[in-house]
Amino acid sequence: MNQDALKKAAAQAALEEIRALAPNAIIGVGTGSTVNYFIDALAHSALPLRGAVSSSEASSRRLAAHGIALISLDDIETLPAYIDGADEIDPGFNMIKGGGGALTREKIVAAVAQRFICIGDASKKVSVLGRFPLPVEVIPMARAQVAREIARLTGGIPRWREGFVTDNGNHILDIHGLAIPNPAALETELNQITGVVTNGLFARRGADVLLLAAPSGVERSERG
Ligand code: 5RP
Repeated sequence: MNQDALKKAAAQAALEEIRALAPNAIIGVGTGSTVNYFIDALAHSALPLRGAVSSSEASSRRLAAHGIALISLDDIETLPAYIDGADEIDPGFNMIKGGGGALTREKIVAAVAQRFICIGDASKKVSVLGRFPLPVEVIPMARAQVAREIARLTGGIPRWREGFVTDNGNHILDIHGLAIPNPAALETELNQITGVVTNGLFARRGADVLLLAAPSGVERSERG
């Protein structure tokens, strides 16, 4: 089974997870290749959803192309479920996200969701976060200063994702060489640096449900 087949299997499992939602429910939709499979599966399902709050321009385009209504975050107070992928997931359901650069909007949509359903292939599971470079969205004029401050605070190596501009018009620094035993503390600390919009640690609002696909099937686990 190749990685795409695993991503599809996880996406399909997420569809089953939201099947019981009330008709006319609105869900939150993340960003990335696994979520793309979820959007496609949702479009071909007969689920009577009202629409979706999207976390990126790319997901919005895909949802709209399928005729799925886009709902503004301003028009809702809460979402029953938010479905998104991750780059790494630790045993405490903390995640690194933002490989696709959509971390800020993902964090905003996740913040209003009652349940964060994380989908992916089982290779995303790690014992300690940090092998995947941690993305940090920064205000462009602050990039060099924020990079120096990140290096001083974390000992990691921030690298500018050159040529990439986020949906919010900002830049990304990817921090290499970290091991993150306490993700919530680092998430808070990085967000205190002036010029940082947010960082890709999802620990203060981690996942509630993991649907991770392996060749043997999709493993479902729920935060205790
Ligand atoms: C985008 C993300 C994605 O969820 C993460 O990068 C995983 O992507 P994929 O499903 O393509 O492996 O955080 O900003």
